[in-house]
Amino acid sequence: TGLITLDDGYANTGSCTSAITFIDGEKGILRYRGIPIEDLAKNSSFIETAELLIFGDLPNADERAEFRYLLSENSWLHRDMRNHFDAFPKNAHPMSILSAMISALQSHDLPEHRFTDEKGFRLAAASLIAKTRTIAAASYKSHIGQPIMFPRYDLSYAENFLHMMFSMPYRDFETTPEVAHALNMFLVLHADHEQNCSTSTVRMVASSGANLYASVSAGVNALWGRLHGGANMAVIEMLQQIHEGKLTPKKYLDLVKDRRSDIKLMGFGHRVYRNFDPRAVILKDAADSMLNAMHITDPLLDIAREVEQLALADDYFASRRLYPNVDFYSGIILRAIGIPLDMFTVMFAIGRTPGWIAHWKEVTDNAAQRIYRPRQIYVGPTERAWLPRSER
Ligand code: CMC
Repeated sequence: TGLITLDDGYANTGSCTSAITFIDGEKGILRYRGIPIEDLAKNSSFIETAELLIFGDLPNADERAEFRYLLSENSWLHRDMRNHFDAFPKNAHPMSILSAMISALQSHDLPEHRFTDEKGFRLAAASLIAKTRTIAAASYKSHIGQPIMFPRYDLSYAENFLHMMFSMPYRDFETTPEVAHALNMFLVLHADHEQNCSTSTVRMVASSGANLYASVSAGVNALWGRLHGGANMAVIEMLQQIHEGKLTPKKYLDLVKDRRSDIKLMGFGHRVYRNFDPRAVILKDAADSMLNAMHITDPLLDIAREVEQLALADDYFASRRLYPNVDFYSGIILRAIGIPLDMFTVMFAIGRTPGWIAHWKEVTDNAAQRIYRPRQIYVGPTERAWLPRSER
């Protein structure tokens, strides 16, 4: 069968060529379609960033207006989809609802969403970006027993999400510019990250010819795990444990270093970044200025800073080149916005949706694309005989 090289966790294998996102892990560089993440975080709206990732360039005024129209027109869910919400148990995890609903969208969405031509694809992309947000907010409303809110056409993407999360039929939620700005930036920073676990999953599923919704739903499930998107929840749980006095930052780090417990320092470490994660640097500053602007304090931010300082000065983390990643400070921002903890990974998924769509398109557009089919090194038993049940 030829010689097969084992590359555990694909640490050294390029699985594809891609023109979407560039990372230099040594220098802490991240660019979407060539544009530095720092510029995008400062200046760009989430939707503009989504268009950049998916269509290759920042939109001009006409393209932006057309996509805005598509997003608005496709932001509501088919009435029948409410039956699905009603069928989930009250304590269902929002990630389970999100992945199931995105899969179900394939059955409910308009028939012209066949993604075969450019027009159909633009429609499907807009529909998915708009509806992921609507589903997330609706699952929260169902969970707390409040009426599901309709999207509004006059609000920005981030503001509309906050409206669907926190408004009531008789009371519109009023956000502040700081909150809308922070949420927009959070989404921009999460929009793509080349071949991470969930995006590779989307590409793999797409490579079999599966449709956009099926592929993205698979990405949501891959994101759910604690080592990936689930880390943003896990960081807050870790900081809360310390805050409640169950552990001090030093004791927590001792437990991590001990290795017997299998406890990790959540929000630290990255496969590619070896000196710093540029997203973490931006989010740390943003958490600070957002809390200041809102005149609130969060004890977890102080604990996070203390944990970071101790870890960076500690040989265990320094020698392994472990630094805060995107998930370390993002939860502080989400908490300040008022997003419930079990929705944190859903927020990551809303942000990552444009990236998943861009990668699905890159795979699907490539006429020479082979199906993703990794090899293995078999370590099971050699040939042995089948035994009748009485002899086992
Ligand atoms: N805490 C303690 N030790 C760690 C950590 C950590 N957070 N991360 C890596 N290490 C150790 C690891 O045990 C290994 O030690 P040794 O060489 O002695 O066996 C060494 O550092 C090298 O790490 P690795 O296992 O080769 O790292 P990886 O590239 O396989 O995994 C990671 C990357 C992000 C999954 C890992 O760093 C981790 O588990 N971090 C905590 C979870 C987390 O924050 N995830 C979010 C990642 S960023 C955004 C996203 O993708 O969602």
